[in-house]
Amino acid sequence: MKILFGVSGGISVYKAANFVSSLVKEGHEVNVVMTENATKFVSPLTFEALTKNNCYTDTNMPVGKESLAHIILPQNSDVFVVCPATANTISKIALGIADNLLTTMAMARNCPLVLVPAMNNVMWQNPSLQDNVKKLLSQNVIFFGPTYGRLACESTGPGRMIETHEFLEMFNYYFYPKKDFLGKKILVTAGPTREPIDPVRYISNRSSGKMGYFLAQIASLRGAQVKLISGPTSLDTPYMVERINVETSEEMLRCVRENFETCDILIMAAAVSDFKVSEQFMNKIKKKDSFEIKLTSNPDILKEISKLKKNQLVVGFAAETENLNIYAKKKLEEKGLDYIVANKIHNSGFPFGSEDNEVLILSAEGDFFELSSTKKDIANFILDILSKKL
Ligand SMILES: Cc1cc2nc3c(=O)[nH]c(=O)nc-3n(C[C@H](O)[C@H](O)[C@H](O)COP(=O)(O)O)c2cc1C
Repeated sequence: MKILFGVSGGISVYKAANFVSSLVKEGHEVNVVMTENATKFVSPLTFEALTKNNCYTDTNMPVGKESLAHIILPQNSDVFVVCPATANTISKIALGIADNLLTTMAMARNCPLVLVPAMNNVMWQNPSLQDNVKKLLSQNVIFFGPTYGRLACESTGPGRMIETHEFLEMFNYYFYPKKDFLGKKILVTAGPTREPIDPVRYISNRSSGKMGYFLAQIASLRGAQVKLISGPTSLDTPYMVERINVETSEEMLRCVRENFETCDILIMAAAVSDFKVSEQFMNKIKKKDSFEIKLTSNPDILKEISKLKKNQLVVGFAAETENLNIYAKKKLEEKGLDYIVANKIHNSGFPFGSEDNEVLILSAEGDFFELSSTKKDIANFILDILSKKL
């Protein structure tokens, strides 16, 4: 994307350099315009070095062939981000004041405007500023933050600028190029389950949850309303995804059942434990030379859910060390799935915890795909297939 990045004069200008650097690393073309007050905090040279482009200021006005840059640049950009957006600059934009290069570009733009405010909490809550914020919101100007927290002026309250990872999450969410799942509800399960043995120990598996989390994240970026039913993992909840934590297979079944009727697509990427302990020990088992634990099978979630299926698309996952194709086809048919994604498990433990995966994808209609790629790319591929079926 072509991003015009405006920087106004607040203490958080140093953070804006990080935001610009991240956008450039993600492959965006970034042009920076700074107010004179912003240049007192960080030199334009920092932004020139990060973007490899000229940094525009009121004392470094475009000249010659570029003298109309105040019009051409905002009108050739896909989005105008102002970060940090000071109380002064927010108010000027709301009132249609164009007395410097940044506010003139804001006035001349015909692309979306994103403001990333950062200021003292009393300044943020000032009624005049709040009126201006409301006015801008009514004009579809997008605000990323501010958040509540400890501020540079040492007070605590609303006014804190969002962090770089939050900025990137919000930016990608708003400006993801493909929005083919708008209006669709997708239910994703991910991660392992834990079946308790006693209050201290449990049976589980090596699933990291990454595959399911990528599916949830990308479905959300592509416009879906996503609920993620997750077993225990160390992964962060993707932006705008509703996460429901569960531990055991039975909890997962209950949760899937409760949410299945209202979803358009169910993707069961969780590695659900096939077995549970027949009788859970109420107290910690004391150390001894040997003892036996009896296991019984857990309820089969896919089989249970297939009985409730109406118009939903249902995608199951399988993990096998051998006869992948045969076992996957059997599971696809027995459980009435629309698709099955079968993971080839290597003796080394691959793909557990890895960023990559090797899968076969089979459909009830006889389609067959074989992929070896990153989990992120595979998630996109699965969603591409599903999007064509909606
Ligand atoms: C050290 C210092 C830090 C400041 N930090 C902020 C800030 O975080 N947010 C803000 O809205 N204004 C802040 N200001 C006030 C702005 O710099 C001032 O309102 C200025 O007119 C903003 O100009 P600009 O919007 O054209 O960049 C700060 C001022 C100083 C001296």
